[in-house]
Amino acid sequence: MNWINTFEIMSPIYWGTYAPEMETALQGLDFTGKTVRVISTHEGSGLGCMVSDVKKLCKGADVQSNGLAIKGSKAKESKKTVSDWL
Ligand SMILES: Cc1cc2nc3c(=O)[nH]c(=O)nc-3n(C[C@H](O)[C@H](O)[C@H](O)COP(=O)(O)O)c2cc1C
Repeated sequence: MNWINTFEIMSPIYWGTYAPEMETALQGLDFTGKTVRVISTHEGSGLGCMVSDVKKLCKGADVQSNGLAIKGSKAKESKKTVSDWL
């Protein structure tokens, strides 16, 4: 992933944070010098603890605090919100 500088990490919110599968996918990777932005779907918790938990998971990353949270039930209507945020 040397040529990529910014990552968007997307997950549904499960139990107040990212889905456990994210841990399997991301743990052990070196994010030194990389920027990470988070986006979630949820049903009330918003981003929950996702930003702080991603900071712990993605070692060395500059995790942006302005993540985007979208209600899962509104996802189909949120295309513009997502593209504006991207
Ligand atoms: C096991 C489980 C735990 C969940 N925990 C939360 C939660 O803590 N907060 C929340 O807002 N939504 C929670 N949800 C709802 C999911 O975030 C939501 O289903 C997901 O964003 C996808 O939206 P959709 O089901 O409308 O496709 C949970 C869903 C599941 C299946």
